[in-house]
Amino acid sequence: MALVNRTEPFDYVIFGATGDLTRRKLLPAFLRRFHAGEFEQDVRLICVARSDYTTETFRAYILDQLHKFAPDMTADQDLLHSFTGLLHYVQLDVTAPEADWQRLHDALPDPERIRVFYLATAPSLYAQICTALAAQNLISPHARVVLEKPIGTSLATALEVNSGVGRFFPEESIYRIDHYLGKEGVQNILALRFANPVLEKLWSAEAIEHVQITAAETVGIGGRGGYYDEAGALRDMVQNHLLQVLCMVAMDAPASLRADDLRNEKLKVLNALRPMTPDMVRQNVIRGQYTAGRLKGQDVPGYVQDLDTGRASNTESFVAIRTKIRTARWGNTPFYLRTGKRLATKTTEIVIQFRPQPWPIFTNMPSSGRLVIRIDPHGELALVLGVRDPGAGGLRVRNATLAMSYEHEFSISYQDSYERLLLDAVRGDPALFIRRDEVEASWKWVEPILETWRQGLTPLEPYAAGGWGPPSTRALLARDGALWHEDMLT
Ligand code: BG6
Repeated sequence: MALVNRTEPFDYVIFGATGDLTRRKLLPAFLRRFHAGEFEQDVRLICVARSDYTTETFRAYILDQLHKFAPDMTADQDLLHSFTGLLHYVQLDVTAPEADWQRLHDALPDPERIRVFYLATAPSLYAQICTALAAQNLISPHARVVLEKPIGTSLATALEVNSGVGRFFPEESIYRIDHYLGKEGVQNILALRFANPVLEKLWSAEAIEHVQITAAETVGIGGRGGYYDEAGALRDMVQNHLLQVLCMVAMDAPASLRADDLRNEKLKVLNALRPMTPDMVRQNVIRGQYTAGRLKGQDVPGYVQDLDTGRASNTESFVAIRTKIRTARWGNTPFYLRTGKRLATKTTEIVIQFRPQPWPIFTNMPSSGRLVIRIDPHGELALVLGVRDPGAGGLRVRNATLAMSYEHEFSISYQDSYERLLLDAVRGDPALFIRRDEVEASWKWVEPILETWRQGLTPLEPYAAGGWGPPSTRALLARDGALWHEDMLT
């Protein structure tokens, strides 16, 4: 039976309430937590957007969306009715000088309640919204603000967003969300590493030959072409999600699980990443864009067709990076990151490849052992070890896998990452959110890559949908005598 961690009553104000994120993720996540009993009928979910809805028509619209995006939760009519009863719609164009903020005031009568403002709008509006909230006297003593990614599109714009918001909210009330940190499997990295001294003893360059972090998706850019073509995979996935996962894998043990202890350790990793020079970008970063191909038995179009603007694009839908971390623990161990759209399969995984036996006494030694931490689509752990190949005569070794699946072990499926994070902001626990200096350190590392690309110094390599990215991705590892996980035997 899962533990029910009930919250105090709260008002949650979602700006951008008619957007994709609210329908697909935020409201389904609230519904699940409501169903789990984590909050009660006295909570208000105040949905703010420009469209012409009333609370009644908005509730009907969301009811319809919940059937699409949380179909397993829709059998219980009473539950749905009580949940949609928590929704209140406020029509407000935050960019309009004559915007009627009184409507939001009316929806927030109680300044003593916990109040969370969730900004799911374009990030260029974050500072403007915070300025208006302050001018309207809506930032109450228990107010917090949650910022969706991307925080900026460069270091300069990230600094702007951070100082724009920071003028009105103290850092401890700013929750920068990275939904990867809400993933059960990403949090499990902490448990695995710091609850098992046996693993932590091996967790360094001495025993680990390399680390692979992959976030592969089968989806294309879908209906998000406008945003994606401006962003590209490096900004969309690497600057935030992949670097955060890398931090969880590489950081030293924090003194406690308190937010600042965790974040101080992650920051050290970000600051220790080997800085990219243009030469290093050329040699260690691959950028690709998908072309038409076959995925799971179906023909799928290429990026440019998906984009449907009638012109070519220079935006990457795939990135692979080879990097190192300049610390005593990791100095000698390459970290390989890769992410892309329209790849062979949907998986987010970390591969910890152990070093081979330095003096091989077995003639047929297979590849050395590894630990695979799979985060998506299912939480799984697999430890691949060499064992005796059974049979008479001699002593041959082959690889075998010790495997554990979260779903089987605990008979529950993973929570969606937003479920945890939305309520962490209510509870006032920022441990799984990104601190300002982390965002800025990530941009600092990513920026020279963007700059080198801007100067046209790295080609954009095509890759057929349904594969594993441009062929040069293999060569990136082959240089170190390494293979990507899908190319390894057992
Ligand atoms: C989002 C990106 O942050 O993460 C999307 O903007 C991407 O482009 C998504 O598809 C991937 O998330 P997940 O949880 O499906 O791995």
